[in-house]
Amino acid sequence: MFEHLQAAPPDPILGLTEAFNADPRPHKVNLGVGVYQNSEGRTPILEAVKAAEAAVLAREETKNYLPIAGEPAFGKRVEEFLFDTQSPDTARTAQTPGGTGALRVAADLLAEICRERTIWVSDPTWPNHKGIFAAAGFAVKSYPYYEPATHGVAFERLAEKLNRMSTDDIVILHLCCHNPTGADFTSEQWKTVADIAAHRGWFPVFDAAYIGFGEGWEPDRAPLRFFLDAGLEFCVAVSFSKNFGLYRERAGALTLIGASKSAADAAFSWLKRVIRVTYSNPPAHGGAIVRTILEDSLLRDVWRRELTDMCGRIHAMREQFCTLLQAQLPDRDFSFMVRQRGMFSFSGLQPDHVEWLRTERAIYMTQDGRINVAGLTPANLPCVCDSIVQAIRCLSL
Ligand code: LMR
Repeated sequence: MFEHLQAAPPDPILGLTEAFNADPRPHKVNLGVGVYQNSEGRTPILEAVKAAEAAVLAREETKNYLPIAGEPAFGKRVEEFLFDTQSPDTARTAQTPGGTGALRVAADLLAEICRERTIWVSDPTWPNHKGIFAAAGFAVKSYPYYEPATHGVAFERLAEKLNRMSTDDIVILHLCCHNPTGADFTSEQWKTVADIAAHRGWFPVFDAAYIGFGEGWEPDRAPLRFFLDAGLEFCVAVSFSKNFGLYRERAGALTLIGASKSAADAAFSWLKRVIRVTYSNPPAHGGAIVRTILEDSLLRDVWRRELTDMCGRIHAMREQFCTLLQAQLPDRDFSFMVRQRGMFSFSGLQPDHVEWLRTERAIYMTQDGRINVAGLTPANLPCVCDSIVQAIRCLSL
């Protein structure tokens, strides 16, 4: 069976972590995978998570299976997390193994009910989007998104493209902290996108992996309201990996919004069939931690403070990163790095710079020049900046 197989290519993000782990150089720096690190370069367990976890373990009485769609109370908390207390009665939520699990069951659900449609992802996007929807049997195409000249969103080109789509199309939208570019829509632009979706009838799927890392919890989720108020059906794939620091617990959710309660129930019944043949029912632990924090006002306050602290550290690193690069390369403008939202800086470095930094300086980042700013620390920042300057000087940008 396996004798004649050639090795599959490594994953562009997690494969990089494997290469990083195997690198024996002591001064190596991993700016690849989107994982938060504190100023000592560690990925800590949040205090709120530690406390919630202790409470979960103390009250846990069984390891029996969860229902196919997970804990109903977890689902309700997720809906409030996304829509506040006026969570719509047309929302149905399944607990999933992480945001990737949520995207995959969304893809399989959509394939079950409308495989002939086209999936559209932003250009560029998180590489796994293409893989997930292609694995579910879809044709995946790209819509214009990023404008290198402004380091912002190419909104006119994007809107024109969305205006040519129809009910045959499904569009993946990054709710906030666009991965990899860090360039987000303004509120006004979101409203326009919702109007276009309502007018043209295409189906939105939101990837909500970074709620809280942009402008904050409430503003980051706010665009969903435009789609809800327009009476649209849509899906939201939620990850709690970053904002609750629960990476390895695989805590996520898929929320779907139907046009009516009966439409939502019908879609949810199909979603449960998809889950049953994929992983049967979700892991309990990470979801129980999220639910405990969201249900306890004290823990929720601790979590919010910790989330604010993580964002504050990332922002401080962005500013120092920009200042150091600017000082060494005064002819170039790095101010876009401070404007970008979320964990990443889409640096503009080209594949040969990325390769040089990895082989010569043991600094790892994804091939597209995406830098995980949350991996920068006061200790590694000067060396990373010097190395980037060297890479730019050695191999003209
Ligand atoms: C990333 O983009 O680095 C993260 O979302 C981690 C992942 O699974 O790729």
